[in-house]
Amino acid sequence: MALVTEIDYGTPASKSEKMVTLTIDGVEVHAPEGTSIMRAAMEIGTQIPKLCASDMLEAFGSCRLCLVEIQGRNGTPASCTTPVAPGMVVKTQTERLKALRKGVMELYISDHPLDCLTCAANSDCELQTQAGAVGLREVRYGYDGANHFAEKKDESNPYFTYDPAKCIVCNRCVRACEEVQGTFALTIDGRGFESRVAPGQDEPFFESECVSCGACVQACPTATLTEKSVIAIGQPEHSAVTTCAYCGVGCTFKAEMRGEELVRMVPHKDGKANHGHSCVKGRFAWGYATHRDRILNPMIRAKVSDPWREVSWEEAIGHAASEFKRIQAAYGKRSIGGITSSRCTNEETYLVQKLIRGGFGNNNVDTCARVCHSPTGYGLKTAFGTSAGTQDFDSVEHSDVILVVGANPTDGHPVFGSRMKKRLREGAKLIVIDPRRIDLVRTPHVAADYHLPLKPGTNVAVLTALAHVIVTEGLVNEKFARERCDWSEFQDWAAFVADAHNSPEEVEKLSGVPADLIRAAARLYATGGNAAIYYGLGVTEHSQGSTTVLAIANLALATGNLGRQGVGVNPLRGQNNVQGACDMGSFPHEFAGYRHVSDDAARQIYETLWGVPLDNEPGLRIPNMLDAAVEGAFRGIYIQGEDILQSDPDTHHVAAGLAAMECVVVQDLFLNETANYAHVFLPGSTFLEKDGTFTNAERRIQRVRKVMSPKNGLGDWEITLALAKAMGFAMDYAHPSEIMDEIARTTPSFAGVSFAKLDEAGSIQWPCNEAAPEGTPVMHIGGFASGKGKFVITEYVPTDERTGPRFPLLLTTGRILSHYNVGAQTRRTENVAWHPEDLLEIHPHDAELRGVRDGDWVKLHSRAGETTLRALITDRVAPGVVYTTFHHPTTQANVVTTDFSDWATNCPEFKVTAVQISRSNGPSDWQEQYREQAEQSRRIVHAVEAAE
Ligand code: SF4
Ligand code: SF4
Ligand code: SF4
Ligand code: FES
Repeated sequence: MALVTEIDYGTPASKSEKMVTLTIDGVEVHAPEGTSIMRAAMEIGTQIPKLCASDMLEAFGSCRLCLVEIQGRNGTPASCTTPVAPGMVVKTQTERLKALRKGVMELYISDHPLDCLTCAANSDCELQTQAGAVGLREVRYGYDGANHFAEKKDESNPYFTYDPAKCIVCNRCVRACEEVQGTFALTIDGRGFESRVAPGQDEPFFESECVSCGACVQACPTATLTEKSVIAIGQPEHSAVTTCAYCGVGCTFKAEMRGEELVRMVPHKDGKANHGHSCVKGRFAWGYATHRDRILNPMIRAKVSDPWREVSWEEAIGHAASEFKRIQAAYGKRSIGGITSSRCTNEETYLVQKLIRGGFGNNNVDTCARVCHSPTGYGLKTAFGTSAGTQDFDSVEHSDVILVVGANPTDGHPVFGSRMKKRLREGAKLIVIDPRRIDLVRTPHVAADYHLPLKPGTNVAVLTALAHVIVTEGLVNEKFARERCDWSEFQDWAAFVADAHNSPEEVEKLSGVPADLIRAAARLYATGGNAAIYYGLGVTEHSQGSTTVLAIANLALATGNLGRQGVGVNPLRGQNNVQGACDMGSFPHEFAGYRHVSDDAARQIYETLWGVPLDNEPGLRIPNMLDAAVEGAFRGIYIQGEDILQSDPDTHHVAAGLAAMECVVVQDLFLNETANYAHVFLPGSTFLEKDGTFTNAERRIQRVRKVMSPKNGLGDWEITLALAKAMGFAMDYAHPSEIMDEIARTTPSFAGVSFAKLDEAGSIQWPCNEAAPEGTPVMHIGGFASGKGKFVITEYVPTDERTGPRFPLLLTTGRILSHYNVGAQTRRTENVAWHPEDLLEIHPHDAELRGVRDGDWVKLHSRAGETTLRALITDRVAPGVVYTTFHHPTTQANVVTTDFSDWATNCPEFKVTAVQISRSNGPSDWQEQYREQAEQSRRIVHAVEAAE
């Protein structure tokens, strides 16, 4: 494997379709209008020296190295800032230019430490390369003049260093932070010789606004900004392109290796989801892959109170299989089941559901989408006929109005959040519907036109009130509704939303959102041009989650905002492969491709291929499995890559369900919280250790490539194969590509997908089949999969979770940029520096009422349970609302969430819990016990390791 390299064309590609013809060094060149001379030259293989230019950034023209001569023009213009023109005759390599460039480079080098041989960037430094390219061999002025060699390094960021002595003030980092990331954390401080890059108000990086995305590090042409991992390990030797294993954006990276050691992750410019950008998690937070907490050997124990015993793979797999068989013999075929992982690959997920349907002989399979986007599946399938978002991420570049509902893109989906911010800086309008003032509401150079800070639990009422305005003010796209939708359903729906009880004035009374704000937002959405909706778990994790998705779909249908670029309905999927896990048949009622298990034709395909009869009854969902376990009917479970004790609601009930089972098999990287109830632990593998595919939030299937051998010895897919074999249901695949071939053979929307095609195309958005051989970036262009778009009546039904004298506040939850979900990975990286504990955000008014000061310990209690955490007093939340994250097991926010769930899908109502808070002296007893237990089990595992 060699290093994957990408050409830097110096300036971004022009999007113009008009071509210009010119001559460069005697060669006729055709380039789109607006292309720089530098890029046009690069396209024909002519390199012009450059330092301040990069094709990730707009041209700046400061370094004066890229000078060219243009016939008929005076002087030597910079090729990066001069666009091509018809008939232009350009020379890039004359003696005069060579002399000028050499002179410029001489000035740079005279103020640059000459430590190339010991510099971490040696051989990967553009200054070094360009000095060679211009033929600089000596510096006439010497090195004794004024310089910056003594400037102090800033090592405050956990992942990269800033060494101002090496800075050439090219401004690339500042522009990357502004243009690519949109954080505006950097400035050039001072003038002339004194000018220097400064984070924030000349603070250390760690204390500034910097969100550690690393765009500046990637942009820096010198070793000024350098990854600490490169300094520690050395320059990489080989790399492979793979996909991030954190969130549903699906950024692709070059995993750059030195031997078996990962040196750094460099975002891939060809990545269609991220276009060369990343966030702090994907770029830097990969240290968990080699963390010492990782369990590398299989373990079993007879009772959960026994210590773990390390065993061979054969013994662990054999024990799990014989226990599952024993349980089925004693309690029936449906007494066991399993959970697939949205962290694992499509191929691995497909295998787990295959094992359960074919090997266990039932449909008791579910996935973490149950607790996040199952209402999306239900709602979008009902409205449009397909359970997926309608657009690709690039579509946002064509949006005039962006409506964000119950999502926090800059924290939850940061790379897409940056794309969105860029479009907003270009002038798109923004409406945010969220109880909390998320960053997008006001961030540098972006301000929401309307923020509707609704009371948690009133999404349906507010969205239906928007529809009320659209219908009653004549803003409906009637042509679209007549031609593309069921017209009689539309009429029923229009009559329903027009009713006075759905008016903004009525809805204001229950949602707290002023009626005039609802009216203004509705008018903007309906009349502002291309309008796109992006939503997240603030929509789905409610007792009316599915109704809310339907209300969103109604808005898009009524205004005709579907079926073209810039519009659509876009769920921001949580985990890296939650879309894929759903696509692959992880729900108890559906085979891969969302075909119901009662569909005889679909079942027949698998019965014939797998050689076993399949159950035509939907199986149990996760909450039903736990209920059945408590009742005694469900006795064994295989959980791949999922920590239900931490991620699912009503922790006490989850614990009771797990404790009631006779065989809990957990397959994971770490001894997670669920493993406290496990009898068999099968060590899992990381995304760096296996081949496969992930599918991101835009239905984009991308390759995951193995760059190191599995530290546990087996890829997750191989573990499932072994378990299936031991259960007597042999599955035979030599490589994950063969699993994808089976998926393609049996699933119409994946019919055209193969590893070979993915390797060639980079990525494919499903459906990909005969009708769409290259995939489908934008769905529903000519019609809906179900024929006509479906309007559904969305009556607002308040949740049964009510505030009252005992629990007067509403708790809602969310994620923070630096952590991922239950934090199993990010807590084992330097990311803890940004967020060492979960905090409870509380409005100053509510805090004052309770005598709570910033940083105080507070007890948070609901009718389900209580936990203790520190208070953060902020007006980001409205009075009456409190907010926390759920990244730390010592807090376990889900101890307080209730067992209410979405009426259609059982997705838990994480976003609305009636709570009370009171001052506390510190963590509860159970939290202290938990801390001790966790520490003890870590000590045992490390002691076993040490003994070996
Ligand atoms: S790491 Fe990202 S946010 Fe921080 S200064 Fe660099 S570009 Fe800006
Ligand atoms: S830190 Fe790097 S990118 Fe930024 S101005 Fe200095 S040399 Fe250029
Ligand atoms: S966590 Fe999400 S946004 Fe960040 S790098 Fe990974 S895929 Fe991209
Ligand atoms: S590369 Fe054109 S001026 Fe720097």
